[in-house]
Amino acid sequence: MQLRKAKNSDVPQIRALINEMAARTDEDYKHGHMLPRSLTELYEHVRDYTVMVDENQRVLGCCALHSAWDGLAELKALAVDDAAQGNGWGRKLVDAALGEAETLGIDCVFTLTNKDEFFKKLDFHYIDMRKLPQRVWSECTACPKFMVACDEVAMTFRGAQPKQTFIPAVGVHASPAARAALGIVAPGPMNPDASRPPFGAQNGNAPRNDE
Ligand SMILES: CC(C)(COP(=O)(O)OP(=O)(O)OC[C@H]1O[C@@H](n2cnc3c(N)ncnc32)[C@H](O)[C@@H]1OP(=O)(O)O)[C@@H](O)C(=O)NCCC(=O)NCCS
Repeated sequence: MQLRKAKNSDVPQIRALINEMAARTDEDYKHGHMLPRSLTELYEHVRDYTVMVDENQRVLGCCALHSAWDGLAELKALAVDDAAQGNGWGRKLVDAALGEAETLGIDCVFTLTNKDEFFKKLDFHYIDMRKLPQRVWSECTACPKFMVACDEVAMTFRGAQPKQTFIPAVGVHASPAARAALGIVAPGPMNPDASRPPFGAQNGNAPRNDE
């Protein structure tokens, strides 16, 4: 058994592993174990995945690390085949994802999980889910349990707190009145001088498109 980065050809097996877990219900028949994933999503995000394979390249485990925002990544889609559980592979898959986060220079790794007792053992701590940027909830809004039966909590490795990034809600050339209406009094970090769009040249001497 070994861990390696996923290949494009692993996707059907990753999908089967995750979706078999996702289709299960707990004893109270209320909660599946994890979110199902489509082939499209997996092919698009295959570079996020580490897999655990046997000598025949059969996928028996997987875990993804998805860079989500400034200094923030999500650890998700963790699964270990029933036959391989209880042997430390879940921990190794999480460790591999944490190692990638370090390589990427990401300080805060979060997970949304209903296996909090497992993640506690791996030094993950509860945080207030509302501290995560709203865009990381995009998967939540597609979940059948969203708002009605969510059983997941947010946890971060070593209790790291996500950066509270200020994002201008209006264009950088918005009128003072529009800014005032939104209570925006200071420029955000994406455009420190508030005079150029965040996708524009960062070099102060570079010409603007309209100059
Ligand atoms: C959760 C899961 C990945 C754990 O994989 P695993 O290979 O059995 O985990 P490990 O053997 O690495 O366990 C590491 C530690 O966590 C403990 N642990 C494992 N599963 C646990 C659970 N559900 N609750 C509490 N502790 C758990 C182990 O006892 C071990 O503790 P130890 O270090 O004190 O001995 C696996 O059970 C699984 O795939 N579950 C279904 C899918 C799922 O729920 N994924 C998580 C989605 S958020």
